[in-house]
Amino acid sequence: MTVHFIGAGPGAPDLITLRGRDLIAASPVCLYAGSLVPEALLAHCPPGARIVNTAPLSLDQIIDEIAQAHAAGHDVARLHSGDLSVWSAMGEQLRRLRALGIPYDVTPGVPSFAAAAAALGAELTLPGIAQSVVLTRTSGRASAMPEGETLENFARTGAVLAIHLSVHMLDEVRTKIAPYYGADCPVAVVWRASWPDQRVVRATLATLETAVGAEMERTALILVGRSIGAEDFDESRLYAGDYDRRYRPVGTTPRFPETA
Ligand SMILES: C[S@@+](CC[C@H](N)C(=O)[O-])C[C@H]1O[C@@H](n2cnc3c(N)ncnc32)[C@H](O)[C@@H]1O
Repeated sequence: MTVHFIGAGPGAPDLITLRGRDLIAASPVCLYAGSLVPEALLAHCPPGARIVNTAPLSLDQIIDEIAQAHAAGHDVARLHSGDLSVWSAMGEQLRRLRALGIPYDVTPGVPSFAAAAAALGAELTLPGIAQSVVLTRTSGRASAMPEGETLENFARTGAVLAIHLSVHMLDEVRTKIAPYYGADCPVAVVWRASWPDQRVVRATLATLETAVGAEMERTALILVGRSIGAEDFDESRLYAGDYDRRYRPVGTTPRFPETA
């Protein structure tokens, strides 16, 4: 018996990995975080599966469900939105399972920042403009931010910021970031990336709140940085005609000569 933690992706039911889909189909128990995991994924559960929405459950109740499946020898598919490496509450579940000696594995998923960038049709790391993306959030009721992980500190780096769980705090986000990025810095807000009701707003830090208006839906990502919407950037050296590389040796004395 194994508990399969599966990244369910950002929303579109076909943005789950084949491995994730097959593990759902092979597991007689499915626990899913109902607030963001699309219900259409539950169609992959085998007939007669026990399917539980864990949104209203406490950690103790979730672990009870898993312990019962373990006692019965039933595999569990445990679905969380996006990828499991960020803001999934997987860590505390894994710690309990280790203490109980219950085996588990982890299958990654498409994170929401990647789905938001796809909705924009954008590469976030454009040569000469930005080469780093910071996945962050502002502090909320459930989780305070550790000292040092402030928007100001991240903004000082000039990296692209992918700010989660914060669309209800646009004023605070703008006030903290604008001194470093400038009021004309491009921003995009993507609500429910990859869902049928996906919405995209492009603005600058100065026009952000007016452009967003009274949008109340909280499942949104704020992307801030000079690479968003940029056209004036360097081409990558990797594909330059004169760039000598292992897969495309160039010149009379290539750095990686082909071996016969
Ligand atoms: C609890 S976190 C889950 C993050 C998730 N594990 C991931 O890989 O992106 C929820 C936050 O992620 C962002 N989010 C999740 N799904 C999204 C989507 N489809 N579109 C835009 N933002 C999304 C929002 O900022 C939301 O408040």
